[in-house]
Amino acid sequence: MGTNPLKDTTDHFLIKRLLPCAIFALLPLALLRFFFYPLSFNQSLLKSPQDKPIIIITTNSSSKATHEKFSGIPCDYTSGKWVRDMLGPRYNGTSCTTIKDGQNCMSHGRPDLGYLYWRWKPKGCNLPRFEPSSFLRLVENKHLAFVGDSMARNQLESLLCLLSEASPPHLVYRDGEENKFRRWHISSHNITVSIYWSPFLVKGDGEWAATGLNHNKLYIDLVDDRWAMEIDQMDVIVLSIGHWFLHPALYFEKDLVLGCHSCPTLNHTEIGFYQVFGKSLRTAMKAISDIQDGKRRQIIVTTFSPHHFEGDWDKAGACPKKQPFKDGEKAMEAMDAEMRSVEIEEVEAAKKNGQQVGLQFEALDITKLSLMRPDGHPGPYMHPFPFANGAQNWVQNDCVHWCLPGPIDTWNEILLEVMKRWDAETKRDGL
Ligand SMILES: *[C@@H]1O[C@H](CO)[C@@H](O)[C@H](O)[C@H]1NC(C)=O
Ligand SMILES: *[C@@H]1O[C@H](CO)[C@@H](O)[C@H](O)[C@H]1NC(C)=O
Ligand SMILES: *[C@@H]1O[C@H](CO)[C@@H](O)[C@H](O)[C@H]1NC(C)=O
Ligand SMILES: *[C@@H]1O[C@H](CO)[C@@H](O)[C@H](O)[C@H]1NC(C)=O
Repeated sequence: MGTNPLKDTTDHFLIKRLLPCAIFALLPLALLRFFFYPLSFNQSLLKSPQDKPIIIITTNSSSKATHEKFSGIPCDYTSGKWVRDMLGPRYNGTSCTTIKDGQNCMSHGRPDLGYLYWRWKPKGCNLPRFEPSSFLRLVENKHLAFVGDSMARNQLESLLCLLSEASPPHLVYRDGEENKFRRWHISSHNITVSIYWSPFLVKGDGEWAATGLNHNKLYIDLVDDRWAMEIDQMDVIVLSIGHWFLHPALYFEKDLVLGCHSCPTLNHTEIGFYQVFGKSLRTAMKAISDIQDGKRRQIIVTTFSPHHFEGDWDKAGACPKKQPFKDGEKAMEAMDAEMRSVEIEEVEAAKKNGQQVGLQFEALDITKLSLMRPDGHPGPYMHPFPFANGAQNWVQNDCVHWCLPGPIDTWNEILLEVMKRWDAETKRDGL
């Protein structure tokens, strides 16, 4: 079924040669390209620097607000382990109707359901199960916007399912191919939830395949207007980007060429993408800070989401694990660690400036806990019943996005805890 876009090309040879050193970076690129630009299929060289430290999110709230978690004991949600949880997910592909097809693993016939029965247990504290009513109360009369790439969409769709149990969202706006811009309204609490497609957050012609270029052009000091023009309408903003920075690109800053990435045919300096990734995020957060209309906006940066390709992305068993990694079994390294650490640094810097303009910033640091869930991806079940006609030679796999329900629901559980903490702090400080 289908043709393998890698076959019969010199890229195939290159990919085979690069595989041992770059498999972890290269394969998702191949996959993303296949998803979005099936006609253009080049390879890319990637760098993988070393590990970086972990930050700790602490809370100090002596306010007696509502929730026991605010007893003053800081909870670091980033380190912990996955433990068995017989309660299972709060929704499924039948009860929630907004799940994107490619992530509806159960409905697509994924036979093993063990991956649904795990709960994240941070060291030294508990992560409460998602309570839709608390979330709805905290964003009442607000506009919650997700901005970024398909991981932003994955997280948004998890949240819509988690909320729909209590109060179903109604789609009120849709634009762009593949539902890239959408908006819902939750009438019980007058909440607007929206998604803006902006895989770099900054200005860039992501349509490079259509224009015949084999690389993006990114203007890393200019924010992407398609979302930034509406910042004034937003109250809570979740930024989630990462994987698209792996594409070959030419970077501009203040109208000058800064360098390029994976660009052997361009006469420019290869500068990788980590620095540019950080600057793009900074540009986006600055654009939000620059809107000084007195609104106390909340900005959450979801950190880099690791993928779990182990073998050929187009063969059965590309991400075959059926269980989470155990505590200590898998270290965060290379690109996962580097992307995350760039994000943490930028958020920490934004926090310092944000205090002056009354903004709240936080990193939703899910890289490690997601890294420990190799079992949570659709794999071949991105398509319905991929083995209905027996074993296939060619099977497209998604080991990047997450099944819904699945481990990504935990991101929103932590998001809720961040928002509860902010709420308690705001009440304590009398703001
Ligand atoms: C926590 O906040 C309370 C009151 O706001 C304050 O008295 C206390 O010193 C703070 N503790 C820490 C560790 O910052
Ligand atoms: C899906 O959820 C609904 C409502 O909670 C439940 O009735 C149904 O049995 C679930 N289906 C599956 C396959 O778990
Ligand atoms: C509903 O929410 C929007 C923000 O999304 C706000 O501007 C508007 O004032 C709210 N309406 C009411 C009646 O509170
Ligand atoms: C590449 O750039 C260098 C320095 O700017 C220049 O000397 C060289 O001629 C350029 N090569 C090509 C092929 O344009």
